[in-house]
Amino acid sequence: MATTLANSTIFCKPALSLLRRRGLACLHFSADKLQSPKKRGRPVTASVVELGGVRIAREEIVKDDPTNNVPDSIFSKLGMQLHRRDEHPLGILRNAIYEYFDTNYPNRFVKFDNLCPIVSVKANFDDVLVPADHVSRSYNDTYYVDSQTVLRCHTSAHQAELLREGHTHFLVAGDVYRRDSIDSTHYPVFHQMEGVRVFNPADWKEVGIDGTAYAAKDLKHCLQGLACHLFGDVEMRWVDTYFPFTNPSFELEIFFKDEWLEVLGCGVMEQEILKRSGRIDNVAWAFGLGLERLAMVLFDIPDIRLFWTTDERFTSQFSEGQLGVKFKPFSKFPPCYKDMSFWISDSFTENNLCEVVRGIAGDLVEEVKLIDNFTNKKGMTSHCYRIAYRSMERSLTDEEINDLQWKVREEVEGKLKVVLR
Ligand code: DAH
Repeated sequence: MATTLANSTIFCKPALSLLRRRGLACLHFSADKLQSPKKRGRPVTASVVELGGVRIAREEIVKDDPTNNVPDSIFSKLGMQLHRRDEHPLGILRNAIYEYFDTNYPNRFVKFDNLCPIVSVKANFDDVLVPADHVSRSYNDTYYVDSQTVLRCHTSAHQAELLREGHTHFLVAGDVYRRDSIDSTHYPVFHQMEGVRVFNPADWKEVGIDGTAYAAKDLKHCLQGLACHLFGDVEMRWVDTYFPFTNPSFELEIFFKDEWLEVLGCGVMEQEILKRSGRIDNVAWAFGLGLERLAMVLFDIPDIRLFWTTDERFTSQFSEGQLGVKFKPFSKFPPCYKDMSFWISDSFTENNLCEVVRGIAGDLVEEVKLIDNFTNKKGMTSHCYRIAYRSMERSLTDEEINDLQWKVREEVEGKLKVVLR
């Protein structure tokens, strides 16, 4: 198994019945920002964000409605577009990928990096054939604006639409959103790059092999070249896998710093996607990669929260076009651990807990970890979580942390229907 880093794919797991997962009730979180505590029902300062050229008000995204689970902490990330900043590690990596395609396929690939991250359930899931009972569709895993609208959880959400518009060679870079646990490699907002290339029958007939074999061969050649462009002369291997949108499906791994590292997922696009886009006779390949995952390795960035910091000691270390400059950590501030035990209810999920903690502590929370779990004779289950608080910018005071922890306890009890012990 390769090391999985930074928000790895959920789509490589085949459909699981949602019934096997707990906590599918639609929970609403009005997660408060640290500096501007808001109580349910109290008016909040209106804010507006510009997405893909459209202005969208907070009230359209964060709603006190059971079909909505977008907290303020996520709304505040919309429109930040780290991937479009040429001096940010994510922007530098995006540009390096663009450069590879521009050099090897001059004027072929059209680039999209400003498509709106608010998409329909149809675009995010149905159009790319994600099964109706796939875990990724649950309220526990995805941010729903309403029952038909989500914050895209992958850039594959744009595949079908762009194909329908007639594009045959394209790259999509963008921010994607997933409810998840908290540690140094997981953050509820991260960035992906998607690529698609469509072939015509003449392409493979000329060579005398079938379309799928032709596309798979071209795909592997293209992506090995990309990995070389980014990582230099490294050892690589292909691993067969599963994605709902491709068949066959592969993962590319590279041997980097003594470990096999998963770099991307890809495959030959399911014929059904092409067919529905009016391209019955064509064959295509597609790939998707996580920009944070690769940037953490290329720039030696140890914590995914750093991508969001505006601390000059971070930002000043990177400049346009400089791929792979090694990040020099500024002094590491000490972590502070707080444990919290409670009896869980049937609807409890770790993702919901993490959302509450992040809503209160923001980027001061480094990790939320289950350290004890038992069920008593009466069938009641107790969980003990250890929360690590650590700022990447300064030392935290005891008072500040106690205050945060106190608020976390209060809100966990109030919102998650658990009983503190
Ligand atoms: N959408 C997948 C994810 O987020 C990544 C991916 C895999 C994209 C294979 C693709 C693909 O286009 O062909 O995990």
